[in-house]
Amino acid sequence: MQLIIAIIKPAKLADVRDALNDIGCKGMTVTDVKGFGQQKGHDELYRGAKYRAEFLPKIRLDIAAVNEQSQQIVDTIQKASHTGSTGDGKIFVLSLEQVVRIRTSETDEQAI
Ligand SMILES: Nc1ncnc2c1ncn2[C@@H]1O[C@H](COP(=O)(O)OP(=O)(O)OP(=O)(O)O)[C@@H](O)[C@H]1O
Ligand SMILES: [Mg+2]
Repeated sequence: MQLIIAIIKPAKLADVRDALNDIGCKGMTVTDVKGFGQQKGHDELYRGAKYRAEFLPKIRLDIAAVNEQSQQIVDTIQKASHTGSTGDGKIFVLSLEQVVRIRTSETDEQAI
């Protein structure tokens, strides 16, 4: 199992949700976050300059996926959230050790 963490532009959340729904994604957690990347929250012209980093609002998605669907989810997020501008976001994929569905005590793939 994999845990997919995606940081995207808030304006892209609805598109990403719909695209993930279309491929049968089982669930997701959405959080308002803030952060910065290589432009440090400024226009890319400022790259490398010693400006103080500014946090920009972003959306974080957490999605647990079975191994077989992980790459499809990553590709779907990438396609649906892409604008081509700086700040489009980033996707992190981590190995996921254990999942438990609290209601039924099902575990791992059955619990996703
Ligand atoms: N190395 C990182 N570690 C953790 N979070 C990051 C990292 N890089 C980016 N993020 C998160 O992703 C958000 C969007 O990053 P962003 O798309 O600007 O990355 P970038 O590397 O600057 O790429 P680009 O040049 O396309 O803007 C940031 O606001 C931050 O929340
Ligand atoms: Mg950036």
